[in-house]
Amino acid sequence: MENRPQIILTGDRPTGKLHVGHYAGSLKRRVELQNSGKFDEIYIMIADAQALTDNADNPGKIRDNIIEVALDYLSVGIDPAKANIFIQSHVTELTELSFYYMNLVTVSRLQRNPTVKAEIQMRNFEASIPVGFFNYPISQAADITAFEATTVPVGEDQMPMLEQTKEIVHKFNSVYGETLVEPKILLPDNKACLRLPGIDGKAKMSKSLGNCIYLSESEADVKKKVMSMFTDPDHIQISDPGKLEGNTVFTYLDAFCKDEHFAEYLPEYANLDELKAHYQRGGLGDVKVKKFLNNVLQEELSPIRARRAEYEKNLDEVYDILKRGSETAREKAAKTLAKVKHSMKIDYFEDESFLAEQKKKYSNS
Ligand code: TRP
Repeated sequence: MENRPQIILTGDRPTGKLHVGHYAGSLKRRVELQNSGKFDEIYIMIADAQALTDNADNPGKIRDNIIEVALDYLSVGIDPAKANIFIQSHVTELTELSFYYMNLVTVSRLQRNPTVKAEIQMRNFEASIPVGFFNYPISQAADITAFEATTVPVGEDQMPMLEQTKEIVHKFNSVYGETLVEPKILLPDNKACLRLPGIDGKAKMSKSLGNCIYLSESEADVKKKVMSMFTDPDHIQISDPGKLEGNTVFTYLDAFCKDEHFAEYLPEYANLDELKAHYQRGGLGDVKVKKFLNNVLQEELSPIRARRAEYEKNLDEVYDILKRGSETAREKAAKTLAKVKHSMKIDYFEDESFLAEQKKKYSNS
């Protein structure tokens, strides 16, 4: 449908503070989309119920990160006047939707989901996969469809979840009639942002690897991490030619730096291409490039840090934002659930024809 309302739904598991990988991969884009004026409704979800699917024995950890993630959202510029930040478990309609969607997905289809496969391996779940965890792609389809999301801005690792969601939408609509809205995934268009490596050069930033730069980190700590970043191990003397592939500092520059940064912090170069050419030629030291990256990152992170400090002093306000956002989210999800039950013809008490049909059935017996 052409003129359907444009709706964003996305979210994160509250298992820890968010880092610059989240920021480059998704948060920054969300704020741009929010401010583009192109969206009618925006929902940003703190996915506590999904986080519990592999943390059932540690609800305290999830509880402890609700406000943390809300602060991260608010500090990057998610504006509660434009976007509803909400807590997944508060929207109980989501579990009800999942329950009906479960009938439309096979076990073997879930087993083929690459993200689930990778996570099962990472968590050593092979022999003992919790059913709830195994089911989370279905619950994610409920999250997305409950809000009639047209656009889901997420990182690349969420692609299989969107595929699963689309399949459920098609299946539901073909079995029960046109009801659910098919979402589109929106990936970062900058390749470096797709998967920002950790500061050690390892493929992914992850808390357990200790290679993250957090959004809430102090200026001094960010600098320390940048100065310790993995570069080209063969670039020993300044005069040595340097490699860009796998060079974390340059990947971060690809993700964050703009030409204006050169004018401000490194005017000997006009742009990143010139800096890269010099590095490859030899004669450019890592420390100089790292100092530049530090300036670029600090420029990005310092307004975030300042906004966070304000909100940290106003936790009552943060709490209210979450509460209001959760209520609004719940109203929306309830409307979709009603449509779903209507399509499935299980809305017995809203459906006057239900009793009439039955009366007819028993009238001439
Ligand atoms: N799976 C996402 C993550 O791990 C969180 C999430 C849950 C989500 N439900 C969603 C993201 C719906 C986008 C849409 O970060």
